Amino acid sequence: MPDATNVDYDGLIPNNVGLNADPRLRRALESWHPGYLDWWKARGPEGFQASLVYLRTAVSVDPEGWARFGYVRMPDYRWGILLAPVVADRRIPFGAHTGEPAWQEVPGEYRAMLRRLIVVQGDTEPASVEQQWRLGHTAPSLYDLRNLFQVNVEEARHLWAMVYLLQKYFGRDGREEAEDLLRRRSGDRDSPRLLGAFNEATPDWLAFFMFTFFTDRDGKMQLHALAQSGFDPLSRTCRFMLTEEAHHMFIGQSGIGRIIERTCAAMREAGIDDPADVERVRALRVIDLPTIQKRANLHFSLTLDLFGSEISTNAANAFNAGLKGRYQEDQIADDHRLAGATYPVLRLRDGGIVREDTPALSALNMRLRDDYVADANSAVERWWNRVIARAGYAYRLKLPHVAFNRRIGEFAALHADPAGNILGADEWQRRRHDFLPSPADDAYVASLMRPVTEPGAFAPWIAPPRAGIDNKPGDFEYVKLQG
Ligand SMILES: [Fe+2]
Ligand SMILES: [Fe+2]
Repeated sequence: MPDATNVDYDGLIPNNVGLNADPRLRRALESWHPGYLDWWKARGPEGFQASLVYLRTAVSVDPEGWARFGYVRMPDYRWGILLAPVVADRRIPFGAHTGEPAWQEVPGEYRAMLRRLIVVQGDTEPASVEQQWRLGHTAPSLYDLRNLFQVNVEEARHLWAMVYLLQKYFGRDGREEAEDLLRRRSGDRDSPRLLGAFNEATPDWLAFFMFTFFTDRDGKMQLHALAQSGFDPLSRTCRFMLTEEAHHMFIGQSGIGRIIERTCAAMREAGIDDPADVERVRALRVIDLPTIQKRANLHFSLTLDLFGSEISTNAANAFNAGLKGRYQEDQIADDHRLAGATYPVLRLRDGGIVREDTPALSALNMRLRDDYVADANSAVERWWNRVIARAGYAYRLKLPHVAFNRRIGEFAALHADPAGNILGADEWQRRRHDFLPSPADDAYVASLMRPVTEPGAFAPWIAPPRAGIDNKPGDFEYVKLQG
């Protein structure tokens, strides 16, 4: 029998949830598995299914040493169902049921709401794999190629995690939802993924690093909020997913940091003092900092839309029900019910942006978004601006105002520049490519995307990493292309 930290690897599906003792569930998952593999082969990494990839696989949920590294063909990856260990006598940490024992079964009155939360989270996981499926063809190194595939197999494992919850706890409609998670496709006109940012293209490696920096960071915030859930299996699932998520953000942070490092070094060598001299910088075949700024503006604003409307009854209901909490709910010192509490929300009033105290319960999306923005800002300083400063340039990258380029919520109806100044429609049309990537910017980035497949070599627009994966040396062959 598996215990909380040791995973049962004997069956088809590695797990620490005692699948062997639950034949009905095991059959349900085993019958979902072939369709899953079909999906992976159709919309997982294109052209690399036979390659041997040096991947980590989760073999335990012990915070010390939960992963094992080794060469794997991706279709043979052991996608497991892993829940963080049980917390003895865990209580519901917020909402109307605060202090009651956490639920081990689905609370009947909240069944539909809970299913929806799991489906929305589950839908994002395969979506990102689909968005990234062709990037392998232009990887700047084997190291980066391996990192892409590591993210892909782990996002796919997150799909397994959500499908487990649906199959185990929601009977027939859970099985139908699990099928639908394989049926929808990112960017598909008839059957798109549920959330906007997960239907956008990820056309090049700068987009991939921005996605893992900004959009995986949204994932982190959502997982934190769900890890607080009073529905204990969801909480335990999300807590373990967070251990994998940290590496996804590392890939985004360090990836853009390495691009910036290379750009600054090339500018120095060429004697360029002004990073905004785009033409001269591009002549060096590196990515200029203004283009990185525009891409950051784009991905940040797309990701903010994932937090939903600032004022939300759904968010209030999920909190009251004890299903989705706040970021680090268990470290906040208040009543965890938010009765009578207020929270400052940015609103559009009389054509201007003002901060307005609003009932805290209905402002939970805004609060989670604020926590996200703070987290993203500190990562920009630490991973990007520090590199520019170290190279001796005064240029700074900066996240745009939350009103910039929005499709959802309070600011969807207006145009604003990255500083938050409201613009008329004409001025926006005229200036929008000062803020967002133009077709020419994208074409330039695309022109740099040439695969580098020699062990230890890197494309000329990105610096090598400081350290290898699993302490491997610089020339380690992270991917054996032909397998
Ligand atoms: Fe994920
Ligand atoms: Fe992720």
